[in-house]
Amino acid sequence: MIEHYSVLKNEVINFFKLIDSKEEYILDATVGGGGHSYLILKNFPDKKIIGLDKDEYALKRAEERLKEFKGRYILVKSPFKDLDKVLENLNIDKLAGALFDFGVSHFQLKLERGFSFQREEPLDMRMDTSQDLTAYYVVNYYQKWQLEDILKKYGEEKFAKRIAENIVKERQKNKIETTKQLADIVYHSYPKKLRYGRIHPATKTFQAIRIEVNKELEEIEEGLRKAIEKLDIGGIIQAISFHSLEDRLVKNIFKEYKKLKMLEILTKKPITPSEEEIKENPPSRSAKLRVGKRI
Ligand SMILES: C[S@@+](CC[C@H](N)C(=O)[O-])C[C@H]1O[C@@H](n2cnc3c(N)ncnc32)[C@H](O)[C@@H]1O
Repeated sequence: MIEHYSVLKNEVINFFKLIDSKEEYILDATVGGGGHSYLILKNFPDKKIIGLDKDEYALKRAEERLKEFKGRYILVKSPFKDLDKVLENLNIDKLAGALFDFGVSHFQLKLERGFSFQREEPLDMRMDTSQDLTAYYVVNYYQKWQLEDILKKYGEEKFAKRIAENIVKERQKNKIETTKQLADIVYHSYPKKLRYGRIHPATKTFQAIRIEVNKELEEIEEGLRKAIEKLDIGGIIQAISFHSLEDRLVKNIFKEYKKLKMLEILTKKPITPSEEEIKENPPSRSAKLRVGKRI
């Protein structure tokens, strides 16, 4: 079974050691395979976990991983933007800590949900497979201007206009069904001399469409705000992002709550993985951790 490498494990545990609150619960807003939650339960015997995920499959994996701590965790299928409702249903008023580890797990990349353009897969990209909007819909039914807009906004893609035009041209002939078809269209939209860089030309387009399908940035903004507001005084919030749009959001929201005198920022600059961690798990290279303490 493919395991998910949890990133910045020691750093996350060390920052939670700074919790100065008697509250019992730490929210793992993106429980995924339960890697971070497992370590939290192991290191903090007086704490419990509420683990959220949008993806039913991830929750099954987390359940399997955490079962030795039965009675000390609650797993709920929910987008983290609704964390206030989840806490209310559980009668939990305040949190000792909150962790966000954005993006997808390694095992989700292998589920043939079209997150990766390395293989031929249907265009899906949903984290929550019960929602209606899919990458197929975005690619085949969004207007040209909408496609261009999301590629610019969520992918910071320089060739957004040309890619959007080529997508529309192709889909007039036949619907675009697979990740590979989309990756090829993007590849051929790039000027020849820029097709062979370190990262594949389709990387930004795939990032943009995934963000659109899962409403990722809106949900991060709402989730972070609600988590900060639910933290007990002395509680710790940690957010791990994987690209600049996510990191900018975290940084700005933390700053806003600092101005409101609700948060002390504990990381002037984001914490990044050690060379050793990057060697062991290369995708961790883009991870950035920001931490705040509720005051
Ligand atoms: C990088 S993984 C987390 C891995 C986890 N920290 C671990 O150590 O195993 C991110 C997880 O968050 C979930 N996720 C992403 N956005 C979400 C959202 N808005 N609401 C709830 N879950 C979300 C994904 O389905 C995925 O399982």
